[in-house]
Amino acid sequence: MNTIWSNYIQGPKTLYYSRKLRFDDMFREQYKALFGLEEGKKLKILEIGCGPGALAGALHRWYPEAEITAIDRDSEFIAFAKEHEPGIRFMEGDATELPFEEGSFDVTISNTVSEHIEPGVFYGEQLRVLKPGGVCLVLSARKGVHVYAKCLAKRAEEEAFWKKVEQYDDTMERFSICKYPMSEAELPLALQTQGFQNVSTGYAAINLTPDHPAVSSDMAQAMINANCYTALEAVESVLRFMPGQVTEDECQVMKDIVVEKYDTRIAQYNRGEKQWDTNVNITMVVRGEK
Ligand SMILES: C[S@@+](CC[C@H](N)C(=O)[O-])C[C@H]1O[C@@H](n2cnc3c(N)ncnc32)[C@H](O)[C@@H]1O
Repeated sequence: MNTIWSNYIQGPKTLYYSRKLRFDDMFREQYKALFGLEEGKKLKILEIGCGPGALAGALHRWYPEAEITAIDRDSEFIAFAKEHEPGIRFMEGDATELPFEEGSFDVTISNTVSEHIEPGVFYGEQLRVLKPGGVCLVLSARKGVHVYAKCLAKRAEEEAFWKKVEQYDDTMERFSICKYPMSEAELPLALQTQGFQNVSTGYAAINLTPDHPAVSSDMAQAMINANCYTALEAVESVLRFMPGQVTEDECQVMKDIVVEKYDTRIAQYNRGEKQWDTNVNITMVVRGEK
């Protein structure tokens, strides 16, 4: 049972609710154009490092004929995904040793996973399990635009808390997070070097702006709440990660501040007081063929 990612790095709500927005049906046509998959075919798709399952859920909606399998090493994510995204085969499994026969899939796909796994193994395993002519899709987050509403600005107590935490935080080294980052040029080159053909690149721009008139009230509140879950789970993970350095009371104070700030932002939204805070996520999609 492995729960390293969900306990110490990003919680299930952080990943699930942010990705539900990033892979909302509003953005379906952008992604589908970049994926370039054949429509109406019973494709066998494997998602690698699926986390709590939001992308797998989107693939299930966007390619209803496809058979989707999604794996992750983290058992808590797999349990969460099974509960929230029906119609998909979710499995615990390791990307460095995929539990599938050679030539099992038409498509492999991953989102924000490639930077954590040694490229030779990550792409080598995908080449092995893909059928000849199969498609490998690698999605990775790029520099976007992030502007917070004034009411969400960090307060002095929060600044002090995070400054204190920072000095004990060795998460990245301890768990080899982001050990293999690649630039927009290095990533397609890596696929090419590992033996993929017809490699291409593309970018999806995902504009998450609650005050935008095209955004429904439910979606706007989901955008605000997703950031709230992220902030709350970040505090909770500190308590698990360095229990001797911070107290439960200190963490509770931080969580109360977060809830109060996000309640204020929701109230502003409900009163129609526009803040124009925004998250524009840029997702790079690299596509290669076996
Ligand atoms: C940044 S998260 C992204 C999760 C998901 N793709 C998403 O976008 O919400 C990275 C994921 O990769 C998974 N992961 C990291 N190394 C892995 C490995 N060797 N095998 C399987 N999963 C792995 C982690 O458990 C985590 O769920």
